[in-house]
Amino acid sequence: MDVTIFESAAEASRAVARRVADVLRRVPDLVLGLPAGRTPVDAYTELCRLHSAGEADFSRATAFLLDEFVGLDASQAGSFRRFLTEHLLSGINLDPGRTHSLNGIVADPDMECERYEETIAACGGLGLLLLGIGVNGHIGFNEPGDALKARTHRVTLLDSTRAENAGPFGGVVARVPREALSIGMATILRADTIMLIATGERKAKAVAAMSRGPLTTQLPASFLQVHRRVEVYLDRGAAEAL
Ligand code: GLP
Repeated sequence: MDVTIFESAAEASRAVARRVADVLRRVPDLVLGLPAGRTPVDAYTELCRLHSAGEADFSRATAFLLDEFVGLDASQAGSFRRFLTEHLLSGINLDPGRTHSLNGIVADPDMECERYEETIAACGGLGLLLLGIGVNGHIGFNEPGDALKARTHRVTLLDSTRAENAGPFGGVVARVPREALSIGMATILRADTIMLIATGERKAKAVAAMSRGPLTTQLPASFLQVHRRVEVYLDRGAAEAL
């Protein structure tokens, strides 16, 4: 893993945005994987600014959102599609026809996961995958447990993860859906390049275990150690336990 520690979360975010814009210049038809979560918001804001300044052109790019809650449609508060629309998609020029997300309100979620996996494969897989990390070491919604799923799948969320995600649900954990759809570990590990951003001391333990700990299904991000091109962007807080 190529780990860089920045003085502040703002600097890490700017570096992530600049790097995405650089890759886009070289590979205009880039296939991006995009996470929700609070951490990438500043990088997304900076990407919107770079786009307005004519320095980031998404017109030929494709995007796949990593995950979505079961039971929420794209207009509802807490939906990751809505979150990405507010923080990134509304400020850049990605073609809506090439902006993919998992549908949380389909009748058959398993079929929806299979459709998504096949759509990603048909686009040649993810070229540049942005990731955050959960306090428990999850990536996307690949939660710690006795086993991990390779492909896009339906997942029952841990209570701790639901608590972490309670913000957009008025802080009420009971309102956070119990299930989600998420791209799988193999879908992640097949990406050409992975960029993970983590900020704040709350993430320090997970970041240390991810980069230095044993490979374990109890900390899904630890499997990133087997990937050849993982760039990790940290602020001082998230790097504290390294
Ligand atoms: C969420 C998402 C992840 C995200 C993580 C961290 O639940 N499924 O993609 O990276 O948890 O979120 P945050 O950045 O808000 O700490």
